[in-house]
Amino acid sequence: MNILSVQDLRKSFGELDAVKGVSFTVEKGESFSLLGPNGAGKSTIINMITGLFPPTAGDIHINDINVVKKPKQAQKLIGVVPQEIALYETMSARENLKFWGRMYDLSGKALEKSVDEVLEIIGLTDRAKDKIGTFSGGMKRRVNIGAAILHHPQLLIMDEPTVGIDPQSRNHILETVKRLNQQGMTIIYTSHYMEEVEYLCERIGIIDHGELIACGTLRELRETIGDRSRMIILFNQQEVDLAKLTKTLSGLFVEKDFEVKDGEIIVFHKQPQLILSDLIQGVTETGTKVTSVEIVEPNLESVFLHLTGRNLRD
Ligand SMILES: Nc1ncnc2c1ncn2[C@@H]1O[C@H](COP(=O)(O)OP(=O)(O)O)[C@@H](O)[C@H]1O
Ligand SMILES: [Mg+2]
Repeated sequence: MNILSVQDLRKSFGELDAVKGVSFTVEKGESFSLLGPNGAGKSTIINMITGLFPPTAGDIHINDINVVKKPKQAQKLIGVVPQEIALYETMSARENLKFWGRMYDLSGKALEKSVDEVLEIIGLTDRAKDKIGTFSGGMKRRVNIGAAILHHPQLLIMDEPTVGIDPQSRNHILETVKRLNQQGMTIIYTSHYMEEVEYLCERIGIIDHGELIACGTLRELRETIGDRSRMIILFNQQEVDLAKLTKTLSGLFVEKDFEVKDGEIIVFHKQPQLILSDLIQGVTETGTKVTSVEIVEPNLESVFLHLTGRNLRD
């Protein structure tokens, strides 16, 4: 069953078409990621899903609720961790959480219980009485996540929750999110870090220039590049007979499986370990001096590179 359905979503800011007709669905219990470089349109999509501003065109449903028509009703089902931190610095962690809990109509014993549970989940029980102003960026982000789950939402939506924080808090957040998902909460997570997305998410939508350019499981996305690894062989360019080198590579591989450019040979292969020694021997015999060899397993970075010709973090 779908918990979220997004159809032909569009957003323009004046002349700029920031989101250009994006459609996808998320099933109940899934962990879904929007992965894309800075400026791709991830936050704009998230802000429309959470009802912060309306789309220029398109439909969004959470369960059967039309978010565009009834944002308030939809917001009851979701927890949102925005990119910007919104906490009161002079209040303690517990007071901040209680403040947010009241916004969700929690009060009395239910509120106290929920705050206690959440402090435990975000690992800040022993810092509950300390003022937010004394917290690190990562700890503040954890309080933000706590605020988003006080009302036990079915769907937790997080927009780049680990940007700019220390590695320890980052790991804590990733583990917390994974656990919440294992306990049944549906997760939507945006990031430009492919490692996080590979660790957390069952299904991934790749966003670039306001468009969803690929969507599927990690395995399905790897299949789009034929599940091939990339071997990057650097050589000392001055001593190279390029014609001879290309001829040798053509003897070893079909044309679409290798590229030769400035000081660099790139070979795409499913099992690079099997061909490595023949390859190096062949290349060396042409008089080319190999200076380094790197093998990159097929990952989301290579999928993005294949689809756009650019790196995720350029
Ligand atoms: N409120 C706004 N007004 C004008 N342009 C905006 C606004 N919000 C975002 N944009 C532009 O829309 C594009 C997508 O931005 P955003 O959704 O924030 O990307 P991401 O979250 O993937 O980094 C960017 O070019 C950004 O500059
Ligand atoms: Mg963003």
